Amino acid sequence: MTALGTAIIGLGSISGVHLKALAGLELAQLKAVVDINEALAKKVAEEYGCDYYTDYKEMLKREDIQVVHLCTAHYLHSPMTIDALKAGKHVLTEKPMAENLESAHKMLQTAAELPEVQLGVIFQNRYNAPSRRMKQAVDSGEYGKLVCLKGLVTWNRTSAYYETEWKGKWATEGGGVLINQSIHTVDLLQWLGGEIAFVKGSISTDSLEGIIEVEDSAHAYISFKSGATAVFYATNAYGRNSPVEVELVFEQATLLQRGDTLYLEQDGKLTILEEPVANTMGEKSYWGMSHELQIRDFYEHLLAGKPFWIDGPEGYNGFRLVMDIYESSRTGQKVVYSGTEVVV
Ligand SMILES: NC(=O)c1ccc[n+]([C@@H]2O[C@H](COP(=O)([O-])OP(=O)(O)OC[C@H]3O[C@@H](n4cnc5c(N)ncnc54)[C@H](O)[C@@H]3O)[C@@H](O)[C@H]2O)c1
Repeated sequence: MTALGTAIIGLGSISGVHLKALAGLELAQLKAVVDINEALAKKVAEEYGCDYYTDYKEMLKREDIQVVHLCTAHYLHSPMTIDALKAGKHVLTEKPMAENLESAHKMLQTAAELPEVQLGVIFQNRYNAPSRRMKQAVDSGEYGKLVCLKGLVTWNRTSAYYETEWKGKWATEGGGVLINQSIHTVDLLQWLGGEIAFVKGSISTDSLEGIIEVEDSAHAYISFKSGATAVFYATNAYGRNSPVEVELVFEQATLLQRGDTLYLEQDGKLTILEEPVANTMGEKSYWGMSHELQIRDFYEHLLAGKPFWIDGPEGYNGFRLVMDIYESSRTGQKVVYSGTEVVV
């Protein structure tokens, strides 16, 4: 198989995960890295033996680059995706796909107009073994019907975390704990729960009031068309980064994911279905370790000429639920899904 030429835009915190995953992937060859911080771009390029740019539009002119990874701030995902798709590159953007609905809709529109290139959205936690096992249980019905779900994210982000040019601001981050840290869990709830009937939720800034514009805490109640319901709570105001919890209650059993462990509670007995795997990436454990799996899967789809499953519209589902919780919090009303939420 021929390797696809690749570039990464944005060389901050998350880029190391992409760089390491690409270094071990025979399906990709890193040709260039881009960052407006020239010293950083040069250093990373030297380390990984590739070219560097400070202007991503210059990089997009390269014909030997077919895939672009976006590891930049939320508000840059939409314009960079659109430019890259129009330049004939496949795009794999970090979550969330954008900072607001309008920007996301523009991305989806462009992707729909350019079917020869693919847009993929990173939701690496869908690849975690407990997530896959929970999805299998929902789809197979092995424990009966899904009755209710719970998502719990209790993490810690101090004011120091927000000392960047883009975090903590509505215009550039698009929100706080909901759009950034807990979007993975919101995405899992909607992926596992199925079609949504309505959502009601609210946000607040509990510990960093006056320091950040955006929320550090959020909760929501989700009603699914199947009759199942979900509750969700996320905060950056906890004293530590606790393992994320997702619970699925079925008619005949309960599955509880706590971090990378999946427990089965059935007939009064508790057993472990999935145990944590070693962190080979050397990166923060709460990011999970499945970037590598999703990145490989994306390239396999590209090289096989098959549509990637977490594409723009699929990535939009979790993002849209986040946006609806903000909307519900703003209006104090539930957001009802009509089933005709066609965006492109
Ligand atoms: N999937 C996950 O679990 C996960 C975890 C962490 C972060 N993320 C996501 O990754 C993205 C980046 O987050 P981060 O924490 O690494 O951000 P960061 O601020 O650490 O890094 C962003 C980088 O982009 C560079 N940059 C800014 N403008 C640029 C431009 N015009 N051209 C090129 N480079 C530019 C900055 O100089 C910086 O180095 C965000 O979308 C975030 O939500 C995802």
